Amino acid sequence: MKILIFGCSGQVGWELQRHLHSLGEVITFGREQADFSKPEKIRALVRKIKADIIVNAVAYTNVDKAESEEELATVINGITPGVLAEEASNGGSLLVHYSTDYVFDGEKTEPYTEIDIPNPVNAYGRSKILGEQEIQSSGADYLILRTSWIYASRGNNFLRTILRRATEQDELSIVNDQIGAPTWARLIAETTEHCLHISADERQNKIFTSGIYHLASAGDTSWYGFANKIIEHMQSWSDKKITIGNINPIKSTEYKKLVKRPMNSRLKTEKLEKKFGLVMPLWEDSLRLCMEEVVNSPSLCS
Ligand SMILES: NC(=O)c1ccc[n+]([C@@H]2O[C@H](COP(=O)([O-])OP(=O)(O)OC[C@H]3O[C@@H](n4cnc5c(N)ncnc54)[C@H](OP(=O)(O)O)[C@@H]3O)[C@@H](O)[C@H]2O)c1
Repeated sequence: MKILIFGCSGQVGWELQRHLHSLGEVITFGREQADFSKPEKIRALVRKIKADIIVNAVAYTNVDKAESEEELATVINGITPGVLAEEASNGGSLLVHYSTDYVFDGEKTEPYTEIDIPNPVNAYGRSKILGEQEIQSSGADYLILRTSWIYASRGNNFLRTILRRATEQDELSIVNDQIGAPTWARLIAETTEHCLHISADERQNKIFTSGIYHLASAGDTSWYGFANKIIEHMQSWSDKKITIGNINPIKSTEYKKLVKRPMNSRLKTEKLEKKFGLVMPLWEDSLRLCMEEVVNSPSLCS
């Protein structure tokens, strides 16, 4: 099988390229060869490669900047995924695409299910819901995996920011009224690999059905709770200035970023777990494994 992965420099893409070899030949393209702001160039590339599986880990993920660059975010997160889906449909490929808890408004008090109605509250969320809709209406075989609060030992993410700030500052203020499940990029890649093995078999046997699935760690916390856990794991670090008592919980309205974000980002993962025979691990367990990797690789600490 030929697997084409876009976005391998990102958190999820980087882990995907390490995990999907078990399915067959992996082909990757970076932004230089495959710029998602140019949908027709992506169309030509996909036609040329003729992959069995196309995995899209590209996204415009800067939630704040998306407010002033909504057109660009819409092309990258909405229009080009639609083109990928059209080409997947024409070529008989399976498309895997990632989406987000930010398609919801966060007003619900329970975790969101796949049948809850999206209602994004910011430009990033609107661009991502467009991507979902374009794929769903394309006629392609697809898996849309909605996830939340991604972190990894590399890349730009909350964990890396806390690691850095904990050595620079002796006090931190972190939002404690947004609730979600921190999800390790490696867990997303491993789960994708598992789902793809099953889906490839189902496609061969002509019993595959496309769908949206929620893929996130079990349990939930606030950004404040997440930061506390990270600092707890850093107890032995000599250059750490912060102690848990020096992290101040603040409300979203007190935070300098003004772009609205959902207060409830919790995703119910029951559909994914039942369909693919999985049990999602607690977010604390994945974080412990990720922190072990960080501690054992000094280059990842800076
Ligand atoms: N991050 C989160 O907390 C979060 C939460 C929920 C869902 N998601 C979704 O999960 C998926 C993976 O997210 P992630 O955190 O792994 O993203 P990420 O680390 O921000 O990586 C984004 C990737 O997209 C690429 N990219 C951006 N603009 C591009 C363009 N114009 N052309 C080609 N490539 C471009 C980046 O390439 P460069 O390295 O060249 O910039 C990078 O490889 C996305 O669909 C995202 O919407 C993310």
